[in-house]
Amino acid sequence: MNSYSIALIPGDGIGRDVTAAAWTVLETVAKHSGFVLKGTEFPWSCRFFKETDRMMPEDGIEILRGFDAILLGAVGWPAQVPDSVSLHGLLLPIRKAFVQYANIRPHRLLPGVTGPLRAESFDILCIRENTEGEYSGAGGRVHQGTLDEVAVETSIFTRAGVERILRFGFEQARSRRRKLASVTKSNAQKYSMVFWDEITRKLTADYPDVEVTSYHVDALAARMIMAPESLDVVVASNLFGDILTDIGAAIQGGLGYAASANINPDRSAPSMFEPVHGSAPDIAHLGIANPIAAIWSGAMMLDHLGEKAAAGRVMKAVEATTARGIGTTPGKDSTEAITAAIVAALT
Ligand code: IPM
Ligand code: MN
Repeated sequence: MNSYSIALIPGDGIGRDVTAAAWTVLETVAKHSGFVLKGTEFPWSCRFFKETDRMMPEDGIEILRGFDAILLGAVGWPAQVPDSVSLHGLLLPIRKAFVQYANIRPHRLLPGVTGPLRAESFDILCIRENTEGEYSGAGGRVHQGTLDEVAVETSIFTRAGVERILRFGFEQARSRRRKLASVTKSNAQKYSMVFWDEITRKLTADYPDVEVTSYHVDALAARMIMAPESLDVVVASNLFGDILTDIGAAIQGGLGYAASANINPDRSAPSMFEPVHGSAPDIAHLGIANPIAAIWSGAMMLDHLGEKAAAGRVMKAVEATTARGIGTTPGKDSTEAITAAIVAALT
């Protein structure tokens, strides 16, 4: 019987609620499908920071390296720990250390969910570069606290980094509708983004079966709202992908439905799966967080682990549940009720 070791990092706020819900669903589908998920929970979070002055232990990365995958809830408790500290102490170092360079975010309407757009159906797969670009963390501040203060934050785009994320996008397009949107802002950013466009053009020769269009990010943002059905795979830099995927979440009905996978495609280290939403401290532990984004992320984890049938069963159960109107209206159904309905729908 196949067995997988999963590191569970519920993190902060509703991260804890939705990770517990996702784990219930995943354990159930594992039982039905004949494989074993062994979960090990880590308390790494802002609360952990308050006690230890670290978001995770010094050897946290080495501890995680031994797992087959990581399921994460949410990180952040800004009233207690600045986001810039908590994110750079846990989520972002994991993405970088484990070379999870492809952040995959599917945007489509689940049955029964009404989005804010007129579009009735669309199916977009956003691929966000996840390790460099605008979020490289290169920069500094001088003359701090004085009127002469200067802050510099440098975007870093490497040929290896840009080429691998674009190739990943091309491969995804090949397994879907064979359309790729490459996103830059090369009319204004004449070094990094022109570089990205050049690499896109060069790679088209290797993927003649994929139809490629280069968009400026502002135009692509508008297109996601005006004509989302025209898009298939979208590949973007770290910052642009971050912003576009919040638009993606919005058009699919809200952050409660937006799932994500931080993938190490070479499988040289574990990949990490997490809902796009944050810790939402205002509704933490009220039992009203929508667990669907976390459960969908769990399905992406099963898919990555090779349990494709089980991943499909989870998505079918989620779809059957939302089709009945459960989990489709904010605040109407409790986390527990949505989870129970999805578990009951698992066949
Ligand atoms: C996301 C989040 C994070 C990111 C933040 C919390 C650093 O917004 O996963 O989209 O931008 O990577
Ligand atoms: Mn984001």
